[in-house]
Amino acid sequence: MSRTVIITGASRGLGLSLTRRFLQAGDRVFGISKTQQYWKSALATIPDHKNLSFHVLDLTKESQVLKFVRIFKVKASRIDILINNAGYGGRLMRTEDHSLNEFERHLSVNLISAFLMCKYFIPIFRSQKQGMILNISSMAGKRAVPNLAGYSVSKFGILALTQAIAKENTDVDLKCVTVCPGGMNTQMRSDLFGEEDAVKQQSTDFVADKIIKIADGEIPLASGSDIVIRHNKITAVEVPPNS
Ligand SMILES: NC(=O)c1ccc[n+]([C@@H]2O[C@H](COP(=O)([O-])OP(=O)(O)OC[C@H]3O[C@@H](n4cnc5c(N)ncnc54)[C@H](OP(=O)(O)O)[C@@H]3O)[C@@H](O)[C@H]2O)c1
Repeated sequence: MSRTVIITGASRGLGLSLTRRFLQAGDRVFGISKTQQYWKSALATIPDHKNLSFHVLDLTKESQVLKFVRIFKVKASRIDILINNAGYGGRLMRTEDHSLNEFERHLSVNLISAFLMCKYFIPIFRSQKQGMILNISSMAGKRAVPNLAGYSVSKFGILALTQAIAKENTDVDLKCVTVCPGGMNTQMRSDLFGEEDAVKQQSTDFVADKIIKIADGEIPLASGSDIVIRHNKITAVEVPPNS
């Protein structure tokens, strides 16, 4: 049966690979990006996009998230999967060289955006008594990366958000899982570590395939777990401690 999926950061990188995969599976996708800049090139890579709607909003702004929730409720009767994937990598810099603005930008784009989407979609999931939230973190959310303090802090925060949501929703069939990819060949990686490094990383299609298997239940994970997908392999699955 066709599912309704929301994917943030859908215009490029991992979000675009996920969008393609879910559409191929016959699902309906609401894709979110900050700008329209990459839509044309994104659509050119999707053979059949009749079940895709793109939405431009800044996920760090609560008013814009609320506006999207209102639009979504008019257009869709239920949500099956929410994937909080939008992210900001920034530039490599020592902790003391981060401006407050830069540090806050990491928290806003990588963590608060996911919090806002969860805040406004959990009540819908709970009213259905069913659904799945997949929060995209990073290897940098499992062990901090030097010169990426703001990014690492925001990605550690994603694991905490997932665990709290999982523990708060044991009374319904709402599963919340964190996906921690290792490096992927995207603009974010290239901006951080250069093009030569980026092309050596795993592809977004590989990671997207594994995420689809999680969504399909082919990779069974307990709610609150995190899974590491690194160097073209699943290298770890961790279940959250209960106490
Ligand atoms: N690339 C890696 O090596 C790597 C490794 C581990 C984890 N990750 C994580 O995987 C996820 C995807 O990364 P990626 O490399 O595919 O990213 P990317 O290519 O840089 O794409 C980022 C996406 O997020 C959207 N976005 C950014 N800020 C936004 C905002 N405020 N509101 C709405 N949308 C916003 C962008 O929209 P526009 O196109 O309009 O700018 C774009 O669609 C991120 O969470 C990232 O941290 C990446």
